Amino acid sequence: MDTRGVCALTLLLACVCPLICGASWMGLGLTSAGVPELPGCRGLSLSDHQRELCLRKPFLVPSLRDGARLAVAECQNQFRHERWNCSTSSEPPLFGYELTSGTKETAFIHAVMAAGLVHAITRTCSQGNVSECGCDARLQSGGSVTEGWHWGGCSDHIQYGTWFSRKFIDNLPKNSSARRESYTLSTMNQHNSEAGRQAIEQTMSTDCRCHGVSGSCAVRTCWRMMAPFERVGTYLKERYERSIQVPNQSRKKPRRKEQSRPVDKYQLVYLNKSPNYCVEDRRRGIAGTQGRRCNRASAGPDSCSLLCCGRGYNTRVERHVQRCECKFVWCCYVRCRRCESMNDMHTCK
Ligand SMILES: *[C@@H]1O[C@H](CO)[C@@H](O)[C@H](O)[C@H]1NC(C)=O
Ligand SMILES: *[C@@H]1O[C@H](CO)[C@@H](O)[C@H](O)[C@H]1NC(C)=O
Ligand SMILES: *[C@@H]1O[C@H](CO)[C@@H](O)[C@H](O)[C@H]1NC(C)=O
Ligand SMILES: *[C@@H]1O[C@H](CO)[C@@H](O)[C@H](O)[C@H]1NC(C)=O
Repeated sequence: MDTRGVCALTLLLACVCPLICGASWMGLGLTSAGVPELPGCRGLSLSDHQRELCLRKPFLVPSLRDGARLAVAECQNQFRHERWNCSTSSEPPLFGYELTSGTKETAFIHAVMAAGLVHAITRTCSQGNVSECGCDARLQSGGSVTEGWHWGGCSDHIQYGTWFSRKFIDNLPKNSSARRESYTLSTMNQHNSEAGRQAIEQTMSTDCRCHGVSGSCAVRTCWRMMAPFERVGTYLKERYERSIQVPNQSRKKPRRKEQSRPVDKYQLVYLNKSPNYCVEDRRRGIAGTQGRRCNRASAGPDSCSLLCCGRGYNTRVERHVQRCECKFVWCCYVRCRRCESMNDMHTCK
């Protein structure tokens, strides 16, 4: 069957999307219930060069899906208390307006997606199922006899995943991440994708296991491993909060305030100020915070005053029924009581 046939069979949108919405591989982050997943690269919404790369490395298709899902889930985890909560739409582009608005949110999305891909591919490599990549060969022997440790086991080898993520998402020559004075949306996205990949390396750690007579720890075996992706998400969220506004290349005169500061490859950059995300704006696909649950005791972004943007909130009492005071009864069952509790629930007006 030719590609067009497959497209017609799966999702028309998925096939049109690469033409109209660039970074469409992100759509793999949606778990589409009911739509069967075709094996291989067919039926994936990819750009031409991504499809070509996919066909050359079909064993990475599960990692493409895992990486996208990991990233979407972590974005929603990191932003669950914020006005913009990283919600996705079931239609492309996955993140709606925020994917192309050139804001801090755009920056975070590109960084976390690129990092998710590195993470997923590297895990596949470490599981030893793929012949093109494996554990880090440089960290399989050597160490320090005097300090009583040596490299061993499987150290995560992030180079392959990093290379693939670069090639797949940005498709750039190696040295094109030169310092810039000003940015377009495309170079901004490239910069932030790279910052996401760097986050994987920055959050790696060394773990060791003890050996020796009765736990004496005379010798330790050590290996390098990636942080859990949640840690990478937290790291990138901090970068998001300290992200830097950079000048827009196509604007004739830079605005006074956006004098270009030196930016390093770990920082997130953005072109445009974010809207406040308070009120619904259908045209831009902003949901607003009406109906969001807020926390009256919090002083953070999920507090009722911040999340509801000063509009106030409604309170209703919610009844929770739980099993409680469970006792083991000889023999053999557990008897519990039903406990009811009343909780105030606050939602933004
Ligand atoms: C984000 O908030 C909207 C309401 O504004 C809600 O419908 C949606 O489920 C939330 N999404 C996530 C991922 O929490
Ligand atoms: C490795 O590959 C084999 C055969 O393709 C498969 O059965 C197994 O589940 C894979 N293991 C992992 C950890 O992916
Ligand atoms: C990349 O490096 C080559 C040689 O080092 C140079 O000729 C080329 O201009 C560089 N490309 C970019 C985009 O910086
Ligand atoms: C950069 O500026 C140009 C000209 O003012 C504008 O058309 C374009 O949308 C801006 N780019 C972004 C990403 O905002």
